[in-house]
Amino acid sequence: EVYNPNGKYRVVSTKSMPGTRWINLLVEQDCRLEICTQKKTILSVEDIISLIGNKCDGVIGQLTEDWGETLFSALSRAGGKAFSNMAVGYNNVDVNAANKYGVAVGNTPGVLTETTAELAASLSLSAARRIVEADNFMRAGLYDGWLPHLFVGNLLKGQTVGVIGAGRIGSAYARMMVEGFKMNLIYYDLYQATRLEKFVTAYGQFLKANGEQPVTWKRASSMEEVLREADVISLHPILDKTTYHLINKERLAMMKKEAILVNCSRGPVIHEVALVEHLKANPMFRVGLDVFEDEPYMKPGLADMKNAIVVPHIASASKWTREGMATLAALNVLVCSIEENLMHNSIC
Ligand code: DGY
Repeated sequence: EVYNPNGKYRVVSTKSMPGTRWINLLVEQDCRLEICTQKKTILSVEDIISLIGNKCDGVIGQLTEDWGETLFSALSRAGGKAFSNMAVGYNNVDVNAANKYGVAVGNTPGVLTETTAELAASLSLSAARRIVEADNFMRAGLYDGWLPHLFVGNLLKGQTVGVIGAGRIGSAYARMMVEGFKMNLIYYDLYQATRLEKFVTAYGQFLKANGEQPVTWKRASSMEEVLREADVISLHPILDKTTYHLINKERLAMMKKEAILVNCSRGPVIHEVALVEHLKANPMFRVGLDVFEDEPYMKPGLADMKNAIVVPHIASASKWTREGMATLAALNVLVCSIEENLMHNSIC
């Protein structure tokens, strides 16, 4: 699919993205935009090399693509100056290789913060109240009347939410769980989440002033402290060498038997084989997973676990957010690769 065929700058998008704002932005700035229409979901390095061709000023790509040495050298040979990942996470991008070939890299933070936090909150609630299990039960025609024991889950109020990685998304999630469900907070991060701490303090004072039990917060001195103390734990670190298999067999064993673990960050943060074993051995332990170690696959056994809720990497999938991500991705390419054009038209 080609927009503005006579445009001066050639920009390639490896996927069609939601909305039209991003397309208009590129076209207005004299870009010839080519959107790949290949049916297959995940493009290979070879597919992308052929999309780049001999002349390409910038590429908008996806988190499913392997942007390493091979692609950055191909992009640089084609005169490319920018690569924009339509995602906040960029573990699929070798930034050193991009630097080596003089290609600027962009990502799309901010616009997906609340949407992603909302999915983490949804998974937490769904796991606590066993919503997916109960839905399956109804559809299977198994409901034959109210029972005191039927799908008894956990009350979040007064329990402790644990956040590992209190950056933008982790902090937004923590706020939702504290304010929405009056949970206490324990978090672990290398940096102090000062604004989050101030918020929980003020909210605790507000509850107290209204005669309610105040919420509390604690910055843990180790991740293990969060794992041991929290009832619901949500993972929000970036994926790199230090966070690969962060949640392994030993760390799973530290968690409460009835804890809930949520992951909307990256799949390899959890050792998925160890997780399946843990779920089998601890039926009251529940997980809500948006991401998987070898996407699009799940490790054997995971799909059979009733105590697991699994969704296909949809944390940022709200219309507003996906259109915002597409717009930011286009802006990144414009700012990084087509500066002279930008200065001329002064859209900055
Ligand atoms: C991201 O942006 O990194 C998410 O995983 C997809 O929105």
